[in-house]
Amino acid sequence: MTERTFSILKPDATRRNITGKINAVIEGAGLRIVAQKRVKLTQAQAEKFYEVHKERPFYGELVSQMTAEPVVVQVLEGDNAVLKYREVMGATNPEQAAEGTIRKLFALSIGENSVHGSDSQDNAKIEIAQFFDDASIPG
Ligand code: CMP
Repeated sequence: MTERTFSILKPDATRRNITGKINAVIEGAGLRIVAQKRVKLTQAQAEKFYEVHKERPFYGELVSQMTAEPVVVQVLEGDNAVLKYREVMGATNPEQAAEGTIRKLFALSIGENSVHGSDSQDNAKIEIAQFFDDASIPG
């Protein structure tokens, strides 16, 4: 079933100028980038986005890393896009990521792991709505 997921190319990716290389992996996996913009997250945006992690020990560092430099926020579309993008990203910890995945290819560490992707269709809708007017995105 065609669906959409939300993606962030994180500051470690924009800083190293590898967003095009990551997009090539995304597109090579059959996912279509139907919306994309470069933004600098505010503290409030990052805190809200990662609210589910607020009790975790890495929350403060996560928010400060995500706001340090610009990110690219994206909407990806394709068959089973949520699950497919999670496969394409690889494990959160790059040391555990499979060969050929974005995190295996590009991530620096668990914190600087190059990409974020939604973990469910419900969260994809919530995350997309934080950055895009989903209804206006052409398929
Ligand atoms: P992401 O998919 O963006 O969701 C939360 C992020 O927290 C995760 O990717 C990691 O980049 C970051 N993070 C930092 N430390 C940890 C950790 N110990 N466990 C899980 N996520 C972590």
